[in-house]
Amino acid sequence: MALWDGRFSGTPDEDMVAFGQSLDVDLQMWREDLQGSRAHVRMLGEVNLLDDPEVVTILQGLDQVGAELAAGTYQPGPELEDVHMAVESRLIEIVGPVGAKLHTARSRNDQVATDVRLWLRTNLTGLKAQLVDLVAALLDRIEADGDVLIPGFTHLQRGQPILLGHHLLAYAWMVSRDVERIEDALKRNDACPLGAGAMAGTPHPIDRAMSAGLLDFSRPVPNAMDAVAARDHLCEAASACAIAMTHMSRMAEELVLWSTAEFGLIRIGEAYTTGSSIMPQKRNPDAAELVRGKAGRVIGSLQALLVMVKGLPLAYNRDLQEDRHALFDALHTTRACARMLAGQWRDMTVRRDRYEKALEGDFLLATELADWLVTRGVPFREAHHVSGRIVAWCESEDVDFTALDVDRLQTFHDAFDEDALTWLSPRAAAERRTSLGGTAPEQIAHQRDVLREWCAARSGGGAV
Ligand code: ARG
Repeated sequence: MALWDGRFSGTPDEDMVAFGQSLDVDLQMWREDLQGSRAHVRMLGEVNLLDDPEVVTILQGLDQVGAELAAGTYQPGPELEDVHMAVESRLIEIVGPVGAKLHTARSRNDQVATDVRLWLRTNLTGLKAQLVDLVAALLDRIEADGDVLIPGFTHLQRGQPILLGHHLLAYAWMVSRDVERIEDALKRNDACPLGAGAMAGTPHPIDRAMSAGLLDFSRPVPNAMDAVAARDHLCEAASACAIAMTHMSRMAEELVLWSTAEFGLIRIGEAYTTGSSIMPQKRNPDAAELVRGKAGRVIGSLQALLVMVKGLPLAYNRDLQEDRHALFDALHTTRACARMLAGQWRDMTVRRDRYEKALEGDFLLATELADWLVTRGVPFREAHHVSGRIVAWCESEDVDFTALDVDRLQTFHDAFDEDALTWLSPRAAAERRTSLGGTAPEQIAHQRDVLREWCAARSGGGAV
């Protein structure tokens, strides 16, 4: 029997019951639903819409519903449609008719909106902690191997020599902004819809600020229609997840690349790889590949939410029931990916000498020759041209920069002297880039310290 059976004479179509239910997804929010109901009941008591014994009875009943759900002894069926009805109908079974007073001055529309905001608060906070830990994992790797010389790429072509710490810091900064986006999303999520009713408010003398306070929201949502119809905080959370996933996917792609025989820069920890059922030598970077793959799903979740909302007239429409599929999946997936990546950054071996010799004489030092000429007053455009001609000559002779001596250099520009050759050390080239944000060790150390402090300021921000 549905809670609205007064209006109906027949029974619903069997397929409609299965089609309309959301329990399979929203039962995840039973704790939040109970939390919201407890606050609502207390508020109703404070404003004398319920008397004290009624409040106590309903609160005890809600505790029992919670205990049964936690123990799995209460397993609501699809005919109850959603978590709100599942909780309320079991409450009425347990405490009798007084349980039917719980829904005074409340609708499932403000109830679901409240539950989702509570769920989001917990899960965004958890995701935030996980992403802070990912930043910390990158900083740990930088501490261990930040001084390793690698090629920096543009277009996936060797560009300039850099230190691994410089490369990893780029990711650490990206993830730090992902965290800050989540902090922003939490701010706008921090308003309580409870007491909005279906959309118009209620004639009863409720105290919405009290409900908000009891649920640790800083304020009620000011407009009752906005309270039940808005889903921009979900879109914002999913957007923060989707953006974070693009960063994690890029990292994952580099882990895959770097662990190939061709790059040969890292060995990913065994715990994050799998073997092949046919090729005995294989150790595949599955965790990283899965992060890259799951990024697509999370981006899809954001799109699902935006498209779901964009054509809806105000206020509540049943379409909105679909929001949790996308939202829950986005949060759970992003959180799992952050965990997998933090683990991989911590559990890997970097081949510290992989590029130390390999970059000697490499054309990625061409900028050095140009920059050296600039130190002798040659305009950069001209210096660039000279250096380009040197590369072209080397290519035509099938040699690299190690074949250059001062005589040869002077055939390209008479400003060249012995000192220019000292600029053709890849490590020195990286260490020379001391400008703010450059790849020099002191710049890396400075950014690492700033980010360590940034992490420390956020420690204790939620369970990892
Ligand atoms: N199961 C619904 C949802 O998740 C709850 C709100 C139902 N409201 C309504 N007017 N039918 O969105």
